[in-house]
Amino acid sequence: TVYASQQEASVIVAARIATLIKAKQAKGETAVLGLATGATPVKVYSELVRLHKEEGLSFSNVVTFNLDEYYPIQPTAKQSYVAFMHEHLFNHIDIAPANIHIPDGTLNKDAIHAWCLEYEQKIEKFGGLDIQLLGIGRTGHIGFNEPGSAPNSGTRLVTLEELTRRDASRDFGAKENVPSKAITMGIGTIFKAREIILMAWNKTKASIIKKAVEGDITGEVPATFLQLSSSVEFIVDEDAASEL
Ligand code: GLP
Repeated sequence: TVYASQQEASVIVAARIATLIKAKQAKGETAVLGLATGATPVKVYSELVRLHKEEGLSFSNVVTFNLDEYYPIQPTAKQSYVAFMHEHLFNHIDIAPANIHIPDGTLNKDAIHAWCLEYEQKIEKFGGLDIQLLGIGRTGHIGFNEPGSAPNSGTRLVTLEELTRRDASRDFGAKENVPSKAITMGIGTIFKAREIILMAWNKTKASIIKKAVEGDITGEVPATFLQLSSSVEFIVDEDAASEL
């Protein structure tokens, strides 16, 4: 779906999330949200904060699972996805801290595998993800599932591509400061969500959006696997859609 602007599209995505939360509230149920970081979802989060502050939208029945986190990284580092999520969303809404789940960038290497399995089990315990938000990296990654990721991959430790680290250097000052690894939900984890919304804005994303939507399905561009899902919607602005 192509919208005139990021702002317009973000308000619509936030409204959909709010509708889900309220429908679950009415039934006494929990809404399980899969969240993404990066510049792409920022306006969705600011609109959710506005709905909380101005229209009384409550997040008391919301459980969240973030897609990914750099590894290694301290949660207190300003580039951590823990810091990002608190700055843009969690500090401004009434979500219970215990309901927030973000991959742990401080784990010992030998504890990561078990931790990742537990992350998957926790998502299942809450009944699975109702909505998973996604951005897209210029390598075609979703979460941090870089080229070569398997369509049935689960949450795991991955190595970041050079281009991904270069793109992240705007937050870390220099590429050398960007962690070389990350913990990410897998493509298989993402696929289990009942609804997947991939968002992309601006000309910089036009060529990867073309590949993701129209290209051959290949592990070399992990986002092409989304063509196999009937629960996915790409929500883009006119610039990101300009090569379609
Ligand atoms: C990072 C994140 C992805 C995100 C991508 C695009 O690699 N791990 O989840 O989609 O960046 O970032 P941006 O939204 O800033 O373009």
